[in-house]
Amino acid sequence: MRKIYLDHNATTPVHPEIREAIEPYLSEQFGNPSSIHWAGRDVRKEVEDARKEIASFFGCQPLEVVFTSSGTESDNLALKGVAFRKGNAGKHIVTSQVEHPAVMNSCRFLEAKGFRVTYVPVNRYGIVEPDSVRKALTPDTVLVSVMYANNETGSVMPIPEIGEIVRNAGVLMHTDAVQAAGKIPIDFAALPVDMLTFSGHKVNALKGAGGLVIRKGIELEALIHGGHQERGRRGGTENVVGIITMGKAFQLLRTGMEEEVAGIRRLRDKFEKGLFGRIPELVLNGHPTERLPNTVNISFRFVEGEAMLLNLDMMGIACSSGSACTSGSLEPSPILMAMGADPTDSQGALRFSLGLGNTEADVEYAIDAIETVVNKLRALSPLYPGAKEAKAR
Ligand SMILES: Cc1ncc(COP(=O)(O)O)c(C=O)c1O
Repeated sequence: MRKIYLDHNATTPVHPEIREAIEPYLSEQFGNPSSIHWAGRDVRKEVEDARKEIASFFGCQPLEVVFTSSGTESDNLALKGVAFRKGNAGKHIVTSQVEHPAVMNSCRFLEAKGFRVTYVPVNRYGIVEPDSVRKALTPDTVLVSVMYANNETGSVMPIPEIGEIVRNAGVLMHTDAVQAAGKIPIDFAALPVDMLTFSGHKVNALKGAGGLVIRKGIELEALIHGGHQERGRRGGTENVVGIITMGKAFQLLRTGMEEEVAGIRRLRDKFEKGLFGRIPELVLNGHPTERLPNTVNISFRFVEGEAMLLNLDMMGIACSSGSACTSGSLEPSPILMAMGADPTDSQGALRFSLGLGNTEADVEYAIDAIETVVNKLRALSPLYPGAKEAKAR
């Protein structure tokens, strides 16, 4: 069976050049970077080189990069780390209604510990308006956390504007850039943001490695206590191989992102145009233009998203309904509900996210397959006005 992977916002395949680059670290280069002998020193250099690569990608200083196990851990570190350190100064946090569960559930945890959290709404495109953040700030706000781009819709938030408001109010600002990093340009030095989350496996590096950029001078409470790794901000022997793959991934992106993204955007646009041109009753979820170049989220009216997902899976197409972390739930996506989408339309929503390795032929095959599945399912739907015609097709 032909297999087409259109779920790059869930995770990405490891880049072939990265796969080659890690071979030595799976064999002779096995040292612990904290060891002072030759075996440790060699590996320490690789970890620090990766930190430098990542710093030059984001436009920050190497010492501002803290390695963690994932985007999830980085979000936890940003939110709880600030809350635990600054809780005496104030107990209010502002975030949005469309954050990833890593931020959402950290906020719920902090609520249980006595913090107040304001979840600001989004507009119908799933975008947080700067003014909503301004209105949510109170004298005891210690942190604002708004994602750079949404994982389900790809909608890109006006982080420079939001960050400016937050900075002028003297409050710390965190952004979860797990989906934005590697897809849209980010310049941390010029961004009024104090902390930024990234994750390796979304940029063709290995799973189990991520990081938090923490602006110099900002102090957080560590969540994992142990050795002095990461200058005391995150104990535990580093995931050397994962970190090296992230360094390489961001190095490749620093020079090649523009071209890679242009190719992916062209394919995504062709895919989107093909679907909207051939299938009636589709709704685009997310902003038409202020959106990640690889993502398209569509409600297929009169069909159920999970049914489509399973049918497409049988035809070799991998896509997603909701985020990978909420799949398995038959509830309409909370993200789409926060955007004010019709609950029935939300049930029929699918996210397609393109990436490295997708081709024109993939896109053409996927459009045909999706059209076939939609016609088949609509023919069975008593609600679809054109059910008879769809059956005859
Ligand atoms: C926006 C966003 N934040 C955080 C995460 C979590 O990252 P990780 O899978 O590295 O824990 C994801 C993963 O889907 C994400 O999309």
